[in-house]
Amino acid sequence: MSQVLVIGAGSAIAEATARIYAGRGDRLFLVARDAVRLDIVADDLRVRGAEQVDVLVADLTDHDRHAEIIAAAMDAMPELDIVLVAHGILPDQENCQQNVEDTLYSIDVNFLSVVALLTPLANQLEERAKGTVAVISSVAGDRGRQSNYVYGSAKSGLDAFLQGMRNRLSKSAVHVLTIKPGFVDTPMTAHIPERGILWAQPEDVAAGIVKAIDKRRNVVYLPGFWALIMLIVRSIPETIFKKLSL
Ligand SMILES: NC(=O)c1ccc[n+]([C@@H]2O[C@H](COP(=O)([O-])OP(=O)(O)OC[C@H]3O[C@@H](n4cnc5c(N)ncnc54)[C@H](OP(=O)(O)O)[C@@H]3O)[C@@H](O)[C@H]2O)c1
Repeated sequence: MSQVLVIGAGSAIAEATARIYAGRGDRLFLVARDAVRLDIVADDLRVRGAEQVDVLVADLTDHDRHAEIIAAAMDAMPELDIVLVAHGILPDQENCQQNVEDTLYSIDVNFLSVVALLTPLANQLEERAKGTVAVISSVAGDRGRQSNYVYGSAKSGLDAFLQGMRNRLSKSAVHVLTIKPGFVDTPMTAHIPERGILWAQPEDVAAGIVKAIDKRRNVVYLPGFWALIMLIVRSIPETIFKKLSL
């Protein structure tokens, strides 16, 4: 039985992942902003077999509450095995270009709040010399594109932060996983009208996340074909890339 902390548990990808752990009879501690949705998710996970499910309502941009969140999770689950960080927003790029506040808010949700949470959490896991930190980043962090570079830059900063944390915590046997999904059919992308062959369902991404955690992978693209797509995207010379409208 594992003890799993899910931060941003209202996310469709996080919920699908938590269902897999519930099915294994694991213990879960869920943190999310929407109290009503949190209770619905928690009840569902109990029915699906979770040994115990605790919940805490928090807006994760409220950094002052992070110490309380970590203390409550550690209290409920002293043997904490897995931390999944899933919260995020996909801001409107054009709106961000006209609005510094919206840009900085997006950087806060997608990057700063994660850094603020993981900084004390990493120290605790390092001291205990065990555990996994799995964080949902995005393929968007692999290269800045004109259509979403505010979102992409936050995820890119997150990738570098996790890379360094992995390097540091590997000496204490703490596993750090960077998860890079492509297009996933969730409320975050509900406004995008077209759905093509590149799109995945949250359940498929969740299965990939659990597998990558079990296998102690460092970085995982989900679905896996995104590794090849992003290799190609990253290798386009900047002189050509800036002429494209991606
Ligand atoms: N969907 C995709 O195509 C895709 C692709 C690559 C990466 N990702 C990443 O996958 C992760 C999960 O997203 P998803 O696709 O599952 O979308 P989702 O269902 O819309 O989930 C995003 C979650 O983040 C929560 N959240 C946003 N701001 C928050 C805040 N300040 N405090 C607490 N919670 C907050 C939302 O809470 P509320 O419900 O209260 O708003 C929501 O539950 C995100 O990190 C996203 O960037 C998604």
